Amino acid sequence: MAKAQEAWGSRLGVILAVAGSAVGLGNFLRFPGLAAQYGGGAFMIAYFISLLLIGIPICWVEWTLGRHGGQHGFHSTSGIFQVILRKPWGKYLGVIGFIVPVCIYMYYVYIEAWCLGYALNSITGNLSVSGLDYGAFFGRFTGASADGVALHFGLGDVGIFVLIVYVLNFFFIYRGISKGIEAVCKLAMPALIVIAIVILVRVLTLGTPDPLKPDQNVMAGLGYLWNPGDIATGLRNPQLWLAAAGQIFFSLSVGFGVIITYASYLRKNDDVVLSGLTASAANEFCEVGLGGLITVPAAFIFLGTAGIVGQGTFGLGFNVLPEVFAHMPGGQVFSSIFFLLLFLAAITSSLSMLQPGIAFLEEGLNINRKQSVALLGFVTAIGTLFIWYFSKDLKALDTIDFWVGTVMLFIQATILVIIFGWGLGIKRGWEIAHEGAEMRIPNAFKFIIKFVTPAFLLLIFSLFMMQNVFGWNYSFSNPEFNPTSYVLDLMGSADVPASSVARLSVAWIIIMTVFSLILVNIAGKNWAKRETLNH
Ligand code: ALA
Repeated sequence: MAKAQEAWGSRLGVILAVAGSAVGLGNFLRFPGLAAQYGGGAFMIAYFISLLLIGIPICWVEWTLGRHGGQHGFHSTSGIFQVILRKPWGKYLGVIGFIVPVCIYMYYVYIEAWCLGYALNSITGNLSVSGLDYGAFFGRFTGASADGVALHFGLGDVGIFVLIVYVLNFFFIYRGISKGIEAVCKLAMPALIVIAIVILVRVLTLGTPDPLKPDQNVMAGLGYLWNPGDIATGLRNPQLWLAAAGQIFFSLSVGFGVIITYASYLRKNDDVVLSGLTASAANEFCEVGLGGLITVPAAFIFLGTAGIVGQGTFGLGFNVLPEVFAHMPGGQVFSSIFFLLLFLAAITSSLSMLQPGIAFLEEGLNINRKQSVALLGFVTAIGTLFIWYFSKDLKALDTIDFWVGTVMLFIQATILVIIFGWGLGIKRGWEIAHEGAEMRIPNAFKFIIKFVTPAFLLLIFSLFMMQNVFGWNYSFSNPEFNPTSYVLDLMGSADVPASSVARLSVAWIIIMTVFSLILVNIAGKNWAKRETLNH
């Protein structure tokens, strides 16, 4: 390539950037919510098995493929797949590596704006203007109560925060890999860990705040999440496995197309094995060690089981926690820094979702940074506006999260691991992975990556589709098929009509897919020309 290649400034920088991508809302909201819902013990077993069989192997796969692709001048999944498979159709397999991060960004950044908004409104005391009815604030601020109500720009509205997070994200992404992403992560990641530890200490020293409710104390709060419970029954529940595997994907940002792009800015002999493992370990520390000890115990100590059960990810984070902080000495300040923590975790993740898009537009369409930032800014802004306007029950957000943030993630992860194990081949893949490596991947992972990970993924994905799309009750003797709301929203049923917002959301995903395929086609022509010129 004629242009100077971008690169990471330091090894610590790239590890912090990948860890920054991984540590996000998933760690502090999604994980504790799921662990509480499924009962700590069984969920954690399925979670760690998924970490070992899909999380860490696919991390290594993405780091290795990414660095290899970068050596050939490509930074997008499409370009990298084409180089590795040496087939022009390879680039189409990589299209999800563009669609997934770009579409997830559209709603993720909206939630990021809530975090910043909550941080500010906590400190000004605005959250409790409506008494202790935080649900009312949440409904209006996020638009969950009605379509269009969040599209306002007053001081207590989300609008101003959406604008701020958009400007910040695109400003940093415009500055590039080293001066933008790396610089932000080097500051945000340590800050995030310090804040999380401060909040953790606050939560763990709460003791028994209400002597009239002696059962609601710190130990019981921790026990609520971490007591093993009935492990054998838990592990027989396919839904628990789906939740655990899905959390591993979401949390480590594997299958997003993000790590592969980040790794493509490494140099030839930069280590990927130890770096990949370190970034994953950092994520697990933040998830299990920090996220798992803050949110749920805090809610339990003040509100008991009733405050946690059935809250879902957003309910727990944005309805329950403000109320919890209101009961706590110094609550306003702790609430504000907690939401600041969520914001820092979110921005390092949302930035990582933009880079694959920027890389693809630049190298596929031969456009410069300014043009790619403008184009991606325009496309993502349409998506965010859509989600922001059609906000009732967070329907648009939830629909896109399901079809892109869950279904497409599974598909992309499966493609990645098959390309490594079968397309590139384990032998060659192993050689490339170990160039410059500071530790060796245990040989058992050769077998795992080639057979176990794809089989485990296909199994989990089939179970997932069976349950969520076809609604099978997993019974052979008395099978029933009751599709979940994601399917009923689209098809309608005898009792409930289809949701036009869910249909529009899926139409938007289809438009994005067609748009991306057209771009990949154009990119292919440009790459073919480049190849001819090089020979
Ligand atoms: N990995 C990011 C998170 O956990 C997306 O939020």
